[in-house]
Amino acid sequence: KIIVLDYGSQYNQLITRRIRELGVYSELHPNDLSAEELKKLNPKGIILSGGPNSVFERDAFSIDERIFQLGIPILGICYGMQLMTYKLGGRVEPAAQREYGKAKILLTENQSSIFHTLPEEQIVWMSHGDHVVEMPEGFQIDAQNPSCPIAAISNEEKKFYGVQFHPEVGHSVYGNDLLKNFVYEICGCSGEWTMRNFIATEIEKIRESVKDRKVICALSGGVDSSVVAVLLHQAIGDQLTCIFVDHGLLRKNEAEDVMKMFKEGFHMNVIQIDAKDRFLSKLQGVSDPEKKRKIIGNEFIYVFDEESSKIDDVDFLAQGTLYTDIIESGTKTAQTIKSHHNVGGLPEKMKLNLVEPLNTLFKDEVRKLGEELGIPEHIVWRQPFPGPGLAIRVLGEVTEEKLEIVRESDAILREEFMLAGLDKTVWQYFTVLPGIQSVGVMGDQRTYDHTVGIRAVSSIDGMTSDWARIPFDILEKVSNRIVNEVPHVNRIVYDITSKPPATIEWE
Ligand code: XMP
Repeated sequence: KIIVLDYGSQYNQLITRRIRELGVYSELHPNDLSAEELKKLNPKGIILSGGPNSVFERDAFSIDERIFQLGIPILGICYGMQLMTYKLGGRVEPAAQREYGKAKILLTENQSSIFHTLPEEQIVWMSHGDHVVEMPEGFQIDAQNPSCPIAAISNEEKKFYGVQFHPEVGHSVYGNDLLKNFVYEICGCSGEWTMRNFIATEIEKIRESVKDRKVICALSGGVDSSVVAVLLHQAIGDQLTCIFVDHGLLRKNEAEDVMKMFKEGFHMNVIQIDAKDRFLSKLQGVSDPEKKRKIIGNEFIYVFDEESSKIDDVDFLAQGTLYTDIIESGTKTAQTIKSHHNVGGLPEKMKLNLVEPLNTLFKDEVRKLGEELGIPEHIVWRQPFPGPGLAIRVLGEVTEEKLEIVRESDAILREEFMLAGLDKTVWQYFTVLPGIQSVGVMGDQRTYDHTVGIRAVSSIDGMTSDWARIPFDILEKVSNRIVNEVPHVNRIVYDITSKPPATIEWE
């Protein structure tokens, strides 16, 4: 495995990703990891990431210098290279000109093995204010460019390498080849880390820690909880009980589909809890979006707690925590725009040991894992669906009548998007009920009925999004079907705002 030490670059997760894509397991760790701790992890190579600091700043991130004595190959990227230089006796200075973006580097004649398969001239991505002006003893220059004469350095004997540019970003054309040379040739990794291996080792680990005890898990039918449940089931079979809470805020046929798939398809132990009335009565008279979210989140925990305490001798709770959840919590001090409720995020007060087999994976790796485990494509690639469900798509107070309108219109939208093949390309799509009524005419009758909004967005991670350019004829078909098939709807609007300034959901 390769350990990446985190010096705060916005690209540090990307380094881990790139290494994993090469079939080598890689983890990101804080930069204050001691040499002993690092040694225990038994890595074949270490990467020091980039970062926003200057090595000579008073509180600049540092490194346990004994790490340089471990005999493990090290690649320093940007700040990582400067830090290595500084700690090993070289000199770093602020550059006369900060360099951001594309740059061309030229390899020197006797460049080291990390470059050996790469062309002499390459486009790379630079982003730095400081640069190395004097190398530590025993180092040589591997690459240069006019504004950065020491763009890459190496000490082949010690297997220390430094690059001023960012090989992990796509703009560095041969960046991947450089990382490949580092992990395969210099560190001697084999590239066998695949999802199949991952499953085998995880199953082994789960069996070892759970032994013959019982595990419960909250199943929502979403990607993460489904993958956790199936993986655990493969490891411990009927020692796992899944609890599926139907809060009545799900999409059309969703509860039935989820139950059918896990019970009949996977032969798993799933308990379905019908808590519709409970949630609806708690939501009665509440129209503030944050209050609605909190009520649903809390109620979910009560129900889950109650149901799980009915099962005897449970020792473990399985959760679909992802690697990004772990990295992001703690480093982010973002303002609360919406309090997200995730079915997976249960409180620790439950006094159960946690099993979190996905906590080393990124979202797309979870999808690959799901495919490998035989979970149907429509679950693995399903669009995001918020924990509070349709309750945040009915604006204001939630009633069964309003839920019905959203549920039925959403089913029509999804059906038409699927027929048009848009379900594969549009990131998320759904309908909302803004709660306004307007005048219309149907037959020869005046109507005074609801407006339904259609939302369809493109996005990469849900953090930002743009409205999807849906062909007019498809919008037309959806609009016709909804006003004709869903009672009490006489008007359809299409939401054409991006995020920001809007959010994807309306509440
Ligand atoms: P917003 O509306 O904040 O949504 O732009 C961004 C993405 O997150 C989803 N979302 C949620 N997911 N629990 C979730 O698991 C929630 O409470 C929640 N609220 C919003 C939303 O559907 C979109 O994909």
